[in-house]
Amino acid sequence: MSAEAANLHGYYRWHAHIYDATRWAFLFGRSALIRTAAETLQPRRILEVGCGTGKNLVDLAHAFPNAEIVGLDLSAEMLEKAAKKTAAFRSRVSLLQDVYSTPISAGRPFDLIVFSYCLTMINPGHAEVVRVAVEDLSLDGHIAVVDFSDSPHPWFRRWMGVNHVRMEGQVLAALQAAGLKPQQCSISSAYAGLWRWVTCLASR
Ligand SMILES: C[S@@+](CC[C@H](N)C(=O)[O-])C[C@H]1O[C@@H](n2cnc3c(N)ncnc32)[C@H](O)[C@@H]1O
Repeated sequence: MSAEAANLHGYYRWHAHIYDATRWAFLFGRSALIRTAAETLQPRRILEVGCGTGKNLVDLAHAFPNAEIVGLDLSAEMLEKAAKKTAAFRSRVSLLQDVYSTPISAGRPFDLIVFSYCLTMINPGHAEVVRVAVEDLSLDGHIAVVDFSDSPHPWFRRWMGVNHVRMEGQVLAALQAAGLKPQQCSISSAYAGLWRWVTCLASR
């Protein structure tokens, strides 16, 4: 495990216990992203990279009742929470503990790969991770992303850096650099412009 991944592992060892109680107040757009995907897509296999405590896995299981869903995360503590949350969907939701750095589809590509507030935590290496995801994607597959975008306030960017989040508008750029075609993308403002967040559905 890289030093950066080991740092995140340590961070989430403690934050796993307060994650669901706190993150609803600032991780905006997660449910909406899945609703948008469900309006147009019918994926058979779905991967969420950095699935955390499993909120999105449950939403995905409801939105795509016939899909097989894999949640991957580097943190055992976050996955423990996800296992409890997804217990009712055990027949088609599976969990993997790993750092996402090489393709995992092994000949069974994913039709939808979700990154929800994950890419801004992969520093360095977020652009490489998007390229890995493209390799894991079926030919007509889609990548769905919701994440922080940027903030005009240096103090806030510094504070988010302390929490392992880089907010320099790098997410959309990484999708484009990987050759993905943005389809439904938007940038929204949070808390009177304290920061902006991005949501994007992109195809190969
Ligand atoms: C902010 S949480 C987001 C969790 C969930 N996706 C959500 O929207 O609530 C970021 C998660 O990504 C995981 N993560 C970060 N980098 C990762 C990597 N390279 N491979 C796998 N998981 C990673 C962290 O362990 C953490 O659980």
